[in-house]
Amino acid sequence: MSIARTAIAAFGLLALGGSLALAASKTYELPDETATFKPGPGVEFAENNCTACHSADYINFQPPKKGAAFWEAEVQKMIKVYHAPIEEADAKAIADYLAKTY
Ligand code: HEC
Repeated sequence: MSIARTAIAAFGLLALGGSLALAASKTYELPDETATFKPGPGVEFAENNCTACHSADYINFQPPKKGAAFWEAEVQKMIKVYHAPIEEADAKAIADYLAKTY
């Protein structure tokens, strides 16, 4: 058997091992989420769009009274830089809520 064939055979075994490992699924118990958004008009827009990747604490830990421009930019950054799938209308509602509430 040539070296190339041996390598292909070895790769085949690895691939088989990999798929066997995939077949045995594991279940993990995650702790309940404890971070929540501050209540305010429009909070549901943030709850629906801003917790897919990180907790509400990322918002809660920002300095208070940053203003509309800051939150507008923050929401746009989540969309443009991190590819958060958020509609423009929702983005506006979220930025309004954050500017008024935080
Ligand atoms: C697609 C994933 C994703 C979604 C959805 C998302 N974020 Fe983020 N967010 C990130 C990442 C990634 C970071 C940077 C994490 C780091 O630096 O450790 C971040 C960080 C932040 C920070 C910390 C400051 C900063 O700029 O790094 C704030 C505030 C924040 N996000 C607000 C929001 C808000 C408000 C929403 C909803 C409009 C949102 N995020 C939705 C991915 C997301």
